[in-house]
Amino acid sequence: MLMVSNYSHDIATAFLAVSGITMWILSRGYPAFDSKDSEFLFISAYESIKKIARYSLEWIIIAGIPRIIFYKQFEWSHMAGDLQVVAIVIKHIVMFLIVGTGLYYWAKLNKKVNYLKIKHQI
Ligand code: HEM
Repeated sequence: MLMVSNYSHDIATAFLAVSGITMWILSRGYPAFDSKDSEFLFISAYESIKKIARYSLEWIIIAGIPRIIFYKQFEWSHMAGDLQVVAIVIKHIVMFLIVGTGLYYWAKLNKKVNYLKIKHQI
């Protein structure tokens, strides 16, 4: 169970990363055409990606808790020793920076979508 949970932490990270890239592509392409249909498509694509990103982020945190609790018993490498703690911290600082950048673009995209929702009164 722990192995599956740990694995899901990584898979959820991949989902979050792909959602982030998709949001960036969507944001870059907007406004593609100034038509009602394309704006509706833009809103619905954003809403779907937002759900995937949100659930992935929540899952990463949920599955990160047992991972950190059982790390010493389950994943600790005796060859790497204490240095792996430094590696884990560095890896996660990099992860948080990437996720932070993603959240910034997510917020920007959210603003555009809110504007369109007001415009179309939906
Ligand atoms: C946005 C937040 C996070 C992301 C994107 C993320 C991503 C990752 C990834 C990709 C790995 C695999 C690294 C590898 O195998 O080399 C990992 C490992 C791990 N994560 Fe996270 N993580 C996040 C948050 C957390 C949180 C909140 C916790 C603890 C509560 C946590 C605990 C761990 C532990 C203990 C490992 C195993 C050690 C390691 O290999 O680095 N993570 N994480």
